[in-house]
Order: sequence, then C-alpha cells, then structure tokens
Amino acid sequence: MTEAVLKSSDLFERRKAVVANGVGVFNTATVSTANGATIIDVDGKELIDFAGGIGVVNAGHCPETVVEAIQEQAAKYIHTSFNVVTYEPYVKLCEELTEILPHADKTKVMLVSTGAEAVENAIKIARQATKRKGILCFTGAFHGRTMMSMTLTSKVDYKKNCGPFAPEVYRLPFPNYYRYGEGRSLDKFVDLELKRLREAFKNMISPSNLAAIIIELVQGEGGFTVAPQKYVEGLRSICDEYGIMLIFDEIQSGFSRTGKWAAWQNYNITPDISTYAKSMGSGMPIAAVVGKAEIMDAAAPGTIGGTYIGNPVSCAAALATIQLIKDQNLNERGAYLGRIIRQRFESIQKQCPQIGEVRGLGAMMAIEFVKNNDPRQPNPELCAHIIKQCYNRGLILLSAGTFKNVIRILSPLVISEELLEKGLTILEEEIINSCSK
Ligand SMILES: Cc1ncc(COP(=O)(O)O)c(C=O)c1O
Repeated sequence: MTEAVLKSSDLFERRKAVVANGVGVFNTATVSTANGATIIDVDGKELIDFAGGIGVVNAGHCPETVVEAIQEQAAKYIHTSFNVVTYEPYVKLCEELTEILPHADKTKVMLVSTGAEAVENAIKIARQATKRKGILCFTGAFHGRTMMSMTLTSKVDYKKNCGPFAPEVYRLPFPNYYRYGEGRSLDKFVDLELKRLREAFKNMISPSNLAAIIIELVQGEGGFTVAPQKYVEGLRSICDEYGIMLIFDEIQSGFSRTGKWAAWQNYNITPDISTYAKSMGSGMPIAAVVGKAEIMDAAAPGTIGGTYIGNPVSCAAALATIQLIKDQNLNERGAYLGRIIRQRFESIQKQCPQIGEVRGLGAMMAIEFVKNNDPRQPNPELCAHIIKQCYNRGLILLSAGTFKNVIRILSPLVISEELLEKGLTILEEEIINSCSK
C-alpha cells in the first residue's frame, strides 16, 4: 500500500478541525524533520528557521549529543517522580546550574517543566521568603499563561476573558527609552523612571508589603526592549534597601541568546531569584528556578513541586545541552552572531525610514517598524507583510511587541554563517521591497 502524500495545507485543515482555536498560529509552516537551523516541511520544502521554536533551540534542532542523551536516559527510566525516588540527572543538573548561574556563595535550584511554572514557583518562594504578598511587574512583560504568570503578563490580547486575575500584582511602565524617552538623555530618563518607582511606594504599594519585583532584562514577547543598565542598578539597590526579592525572568533570554548563560551576566547585577526554560533543554520540557540558598530554602516542604518536576529524560537533555554550549562555546557565538545581525540591521535601517529602531543584546536582536518616524505610531501591517513574504521564500520569522510591529531573531546559534547570510538577505530584500511601496 502506498502512503498518501501529506501536504502542509491538508495538515493545516486537519488541525483546524480538531485543535482548539485558542491555540495560536504564529506561522503556517509544518515540519517533517529538523536539523541545525533548517526545517523540512511536510511538502519536502527546506525552511530557514529564524524562530527557533520561540527561542528554544539555541543549540539547534536535534543536536546529536542531546538526541543520544535522551535515548540513553529513556532506555533506563522515564519517570519516577523526584518527590518519590531521587535520581542523579536531576541532582547533576542542579549542580551544573549552580555553577554556571551562581546567585551567592550558596545557590539552590528547583526544576519544573515549563517557563510559566518556573515563574509561579519563583513568586511562591519570594512570598514565603519575605512573608509579604505584593508583586511588582512591568508593561510589555510576558511571564506565561498560568493564572499568576498570566496576571504578570501585560498584553491584554493574551488575557481576553481569562480573569479574574491574581490579586496583589502591581505594574509600572517598562523603562522603554525608545518609546518614551521623548528627547531626554538616557540618564535623565532612567532617573525619572526610578523616581516613578519610588513614588509608587507612596501611591501604589508600600515597599514593606512588596515581596518581589519581576523583570525581563530583555523583554521577549514585549519586543526585545532592553532594560537600561542604570535602571537595573537602581532596581537592585531599591530591592536591597527594602528587602524585596529581585527576580529576573530569563526564560527567553537565557542559555547563550545574549552571549552569556543569562542576560544578567551582561549587567553584572545578580538577582535573588531567576527563572529559566526554553533553550535549557533543546525542546524537552524543563525549567528551573535558581536563587540564593537561604531564599530558596524559605519555601516549606510540599509548597513547591509537582508530579513531573525535572523529568529525567528532560534533565538528560538539559545536561547534554549545557555540555554542547560549553564545547561549542555558544555564549561567545551568540555575541558574535549578534554583532553580524546588528550590523546588517543597521545597514537596512539606513535604507528604510519605516524602521524606527534596531535593538537587542547579543543575538537577541530585533527591528521595530513605525509610521512617520514616530515611536508611538506602530506599523504592524508592514511587519506582518514582511514576515509573510519571507515565509513565501522559505524563511520562518516571528513578530513581537505589544503592537506586533517588531521582527525578532531567535535563530539557532549553531546556524552556519552561510545560512544566516541567506536568511538575512531574504529579510533585507523583503524589507526594502515592502518599505519602498
Ligand atoms: C520571558 C518569558 N517568561 C515566561 C514564559 C512562559 O514560558 P512557557 O511558555 O514555557 O510557559 C515565556 C514564554 O515565551 C517567556 O518568554
């Protein structure tokens, strides 16, 4: 019997018939196999992947050593629940994480399965450590889709009719200098934003009721907006002054994307707690909460955890991914690729006045499209058009930003320079074509 040829469009129709509508479609691409930075779709077409499964495959699709580690672990045991039977891959992964992401003389870790779960647990730990309830977060933030993490998430479109949301969550504007700088110097802007934060302690919540401030140093879904160094320094000293936990959400920015294991290592500012997922496990569901030992230990036994926390196969994948990052020096490569992408984007910007800003940290690079050269007039239509045209030419891209007017690059960092160049050329041609219309 010959097997029917599976077409992308057929697969998509079948998806529509049985998959709930609320499961978002960012791109209509399909996959039969994937390797490195290349996806082969079900029609046999080769696609260049600049989305990396939303920042999950920094170490590439199906790296050989990770695949082998998964297979080897799966053959030994797949699940015991770490609460019930202790296994070494969990402990070893925690040991590795404390070494590459030290938060203090003594750092401790808990593992879970998804980014949102890591955020939920970071909040629970901060609350238990401080015995306070309030959490301060930012506009443009994305922290997940579970109830607390969705409450912390800013964009209204992600939250339609999902409330009531968690109580005791407060929000301030993210220090987005491009959008809100309004001609001030960066220093002046940061001073004003820190003043706004101190004012919030008078008109929003008393610092003595605030358990934590949670921030993405480079906002992922928010459009790769980078928090200014001086602002983050200000956050650190305010948190120290009032005994507030500073939480960095590194779920999208972690594991070589910004040229370091975590974005905070570019700032030389250490959080009390931080969260990781995505590229840590090369696609296997694994996430971590990392923090100063005495803070992590403040959570009472049984208050954090779950059946699947740190699944052994996922731990094996993460350990192999960390080894690969070390062996191939992907942190340095992230910084190097970031310089190539930035240079290219800045040269495109000179030819296209619709590009309001080129920004990012390391290889977490983005382009923002606006109208009339005005940071407050987003151009999502142009952005969507360019992404579609690129897809027609075999390049998978993702948008970002509250207004969907940002193109972000999350390609695997193992991408060859030749393939990166090919993808950037498609993007450049489509931007210039679309901008000149
Ligand atoms: C910064 C950040 N935090 C949290 C999350 C939620 O992670 P997950 O989708 O694994 O629950 C994401 C996902 O995009 C993210 O980018």
